[in-house]
Amino acid sequence: MKVLVIGGGGREHALVWKLRQSPRVSALFCAPGNAGIAQLATCVPIPISDHEQLAAFARDEGIELTVVGPDDALAAGIVDHFEAAGLRIFGPRQSAARLESSKAFAKEFMERHGIPTARSGTFGHPAAARAFLREMPLPVVVKADGLALGKGVIIAQTIAEADAAIREIMEERRFGDAGAQVVIEEFLEGEECSIHALVDGDSYLLFPSAQDHKRAFEGDQGPNTGGMGTFSPAAKLVTPALETRIRREILDPFLQGLKRDGLDFRGMLFPGLMITADGPKVLEFNCRFGDPETQVLVTRLESDLLDLLEATIDCRLAEVAARWSPEAAVCVIMASPGYPGDYPRGLPISGLDQSGECVVFHAGTKMVNGSMVTAGGRVLGVTALAADLPAAQAKAYGAVRSIHFEGAQFRGDIAARGLSA
Ligand code: AMP
Ligand code: GLY
Repeated sequence: MKVLVIGGGGREHALVWKLRQSPRVSALFCAPGNAGIAQLATCVPIPISDHEQLAAFARDEGIELTVVGPDDALAAGIVDHFEAAGLRIFGPRQSAARLESSKAFAKEFMERHGIPTARSGTFGHPAAARAFLREMPLPVVVKADGLALGKGVIIAQTIAEADAAIREIMEERRFGDAGAQVVIEEFLEGEECSIHALVDGDSYLLFPSAQDHKRAFEGDQGPNTGGMGTFSPAAKLVTPALETRIRREILDPFLQGLKRDGLDFRGMLFPGLMITADGPKVLEFNCRFGDPETQVLVTRLESDLLDLLEATIDCRLAEVAARWSPEAAVCVIMASPGYPGDYPRGLPISGLDQSGECVVFHAGTKMVNGSMVTAGGRVLGVTALAADLPAAQAKAYGAVRSIHFEGAQFRGDIAARGLSA
């Protein structure tokens, strides 16, 4: 089968790496890809936003399955576009992807179907938002309704900070139209985890748990990023008892909600959860694979990913099972100096051949005159699989220490939370 993956980050490298192992994949393409992906697939220089050209490529090349990585492509309706052209594609349609692209829509869905989440209000006028937040305890969370590259969530410690967040989002439109509405939300205390489940509308297939590290610096300090590292399983937090609650309180009502609302959701559901003293609560729904969660999940996946993606599209998830390695995986992100703020590009990367048994998933890399250089904020995701979490952590950091680019920034405590007593 000829397969096209859309995207060019670490998540897409991980998807391509796993699909490459499928005996059923005869040819693999990625648009636009990156320098790491280019070692496994043919990269096609078409921008993610150009659905017309992507569909034309899929048609002309005889692509039999397209797999979408990024949220913005789903929100912009790439799946609807491909389906209208008679092309097979993995991911939710635009109407269902709104569960990620509109936090207000997601909140209404959760409230309608009894899915536990933070108490909140949604507002289209700054004055109403300001009045509401004065009734909320501090800290309070202010969120732009739409997609904002993970930067549209502000945890305000004071009313003045919350007012400023409303001004930036709604009045100054820092995130453009994503700020036409805001969600003001109760602050939840607890530990976060990442849950992934393939959903076909009738059933879901739950993946193992993972945890991300969103803050830039060690000890969960500094600004939020796209994610600085992951590990799986998150067994200390997501015990079998908690997994049962997640199924009963979140995934089962999610599926029932889809049916009641007549939403056709076939794709990956990745809820970000806060595990509070009252149990699991949904912070957000993502309608795609996580990045860098995918890097650790596919490393542990023993089944053919292609089979699982196809079963999702064809509503056959109830008939399939996935096999997972009982071993643990750790992914440490090496980022450009300055990330998530401004950072330089074009720094030469060395030592990639010293990474031993680790898999190095590329995010922002490029080949220039035969050398690998940095080309983005998150550069590499150094990923190890080993008997247990301490062994996987030691193996990943062993490889990280052998890879160099000027000012490489990484956290030294990825997976520490999974280990501490
Ligand atoms: P979101 O994009 O909605 O998942 O928010 C990004 C990050 O902000 C989350 O991963 C949490 O760390 C934090 N966050 C969002 N909502 C809340 C909340 N209600 N309480 C505490 N932290 C939150
Ligand atoms: N790792 C968080 C995300 O993909 O949104």
